[in-house]
Amino acid sequence: MSTIDNVKLLEIPKVHDERGALAVIEKDTIPFSIKRVYYLYDVPSDSYRGGHAHKEQESVIIALSGSFEVIVDDGISKRRIVLNKPNQGLYIPIHIWREIDNFSSGAVCLVLASTNYNEQEYIRNYSDFKN
Ligand code: TYD
Repeated sequence: MSTIDNVKLLEIPKVHDERGALAVIEKDTIPFSIKRVYYLYDVPSDSYRGGHAHKEQESVIIALSGSFEVIVDDGISKRRIVLNKPNQGLYIPIHIWREIDNFSSGAVCLVLASTNYNEQEYIRNYSDFKN
């Protein structure tokens, strides 16, 4: 079973010069092969997202713009992680409960996912997750 020790901050390689920064995600940057990419934007600052775990989906969450906080919870321990760098990705394995809050204005939350969207593999009830 995954624990929050398996949640990792990944550094996304970037090329930075006087014209700006370019970050690159390649096969070896992410610990799974990407099946789907989705992103949250126009998120009200008091919004709360997530509130679920996955049976199959591994994820990497990136603050492409602005900032927000991700709470990861393995049922025993919790960690709150601020994401505010577009070249940093938060890897979340399966069976980790996640919540996202404190969105800054203009925040864009990019999610790289290892599976296609399938509601059947979501655990959306916290007591089901704990059990
Ligand atoms: P939800 O899981 O509540 O978003 P979050 O975890 O970011 O708070 O998803 C919101 C809606 O979008 C819900 O009706 C399911 C739908 N959805 C898709 O249709 N495809 C997808 O790939 C995802 C992630 C969600």
